[in-house]
Amino acid sequence: MDEWVRLAEQAPIIRVEPPGPKAREILEEDRKYLMQSFVRWYPLVVDTARGALVKDVDGNVYIDLNSALAVANIGHTHPRVVEAIKRQSEKLLHFSLTDFYYEEAVRAAKRLVSVSPFEEGKVFFANSGAESVEGSLKVARGHFRGKRPYIIGFLGAFHGRTMGALSITSSKPVQRKWFSPLVPNIIHVPYPYSYRCPFHAETPEECGEAVLSYIEEWILGKIVDPEEVAAFIFEPIQGEGGYIVPPDNFLPGLRKLADKYGILLIDDEVQAGIGRTGRWFAVEHWGVVPDIIATAKGIAGGLPLGAIVGKSEVMNLPPGSHASTFGGNPVSLAAMNAVFEVIESERVLDRVSRLGEEVLKFFRDLSAEVSLIGDVRGKGFMIGVELVRDRRTKEPAKKELAELINRCFKRGVLVIGAGLSVVRIAPPLTIEEELLWRALRILEEELRKLDREVRA
Ligand SMILES: Cc1ncc(COP(=O)(O)O)c(C=O)c1O
Repeated sequence: MDEWVRLAEQAPIIRVEPPGPKAREILEEDRKYLMQSFVRWYPLVVDTARGALVKDVDGNVYIDLNSALAVANIGHTHPRVVEAIKRQSEKLLHFSLTDFYYEEAVRAAKRLVSVSPFEEGKVFFANSGAESVEGSLKVARGHFRGKRPYIIGFLGAFHGRTMGALSITSSKPVQRKWFSPLVPNIIHVPYPYSYRCPFHAETPEECGEAVLSYIEEWILGKIVDPEEVAAFIFEPIQGEGGYIVPPDNFLPGLRKLADKYGILLIDDEVQAGIGRTGRWFAVEHWGVVPDIIATAKGIAGGLPLGAIVGKSEVMNLPPGSHASTFGGNPVSLAAMNAVFEVIESERVLDRVSRLGEEVLKFFRDLSAEVSLIGDVRGKGFMIGVELVRDRRTKEPAKKELAELINRCFKRGVLVIGAGLSVVRIAPPLTIEEELLWRALRILEEELRKLDREVRA
């Protein structure tokens, strides 16, 4: 029997309390030799991973409800991805698109356009989410030949950490502190986080409406002439900001507003795209067609790849104005091809839509008994469970979140947080149902226990 099949029957398996002896050694060296600018939730030192299972260096086996940051969308080391990488790496490792041509890039671009909402689209390949976002900003400003210098972004957004992407990011002050001056001509407006609407609103739709009116009346009416705005950039579901789903009227309303003033819509699907919400791109849930989409993370099954896909008439930067040595590396593109084949042939989108509804219901039912749960929201396998210390004041349960996540880790379930106090549920889209529910039941037990302790 395949070792992973055997492990799946018993997972999670905790042999030694993590971090075990081998993990402790590596942690010590990590502290010594790596810059410590990350926020690690717990001391997981990974050795191998397959599907939704992760083995650490001390032999513990975990169930991954996080897909290694929404990257392992079709699971870790998917055999078809590994096979495609092996085949391609014997043929060609690198040949830069900046100066040359290869068929793999054309084939992959064609495939990406075919699943995009664009009738006619073009692609630019990059290496990461931040680089795709950076490029999207350049495409938008370049489209107007520099005549529209402003970009409007949303509070709570996370778009990456390179200077341009960071300038539109506004998820946590620590991400920006010390790095100014950032890119100028960026304006941030509230996002319709209807559980904590920044405006007075009785319903989510009222919150969406209030944000749209604020943008039009107060931003476009008082600070910046709309003719100077190149683009709105948004996440269709805010990721790092707390898995925040906008009300149904918001994105269609933003499209209308953009059209009214000739402003482009850049849709950052780095986290929400590539099937994560049960659609190729999350924006499809609202029937909205943006002008530019930035994608990365899950696109190549774990290899570094980013892509900008946009309407052909917008993707028109002139020769010499944008390029990247490794963007569209042939091995990453082969992996991407395999990811797309798996998503299509295994009907992954339908599965995620169905299971996502079941998981949402599971947490909504649980919230009837666990008052630590303030809000449950999401689409597909991008589900946020927001924890609050008191449902009336909605005080974020930050410490409790950290405690819960750590306790789950110790029991062999990998989850992390988002926003101030949100548990993010983002398992591989292909996770076995049995494993999914086993992991969720452990999370449920820990949530109930913690809830009792908070109330005691
Ligand atoms: C929505 C979104 N955009 C951009 C990024 C940046 O991607 P990367 O870390 O690959 O640069 C992220 C990363 O979490 C993201 O969630």
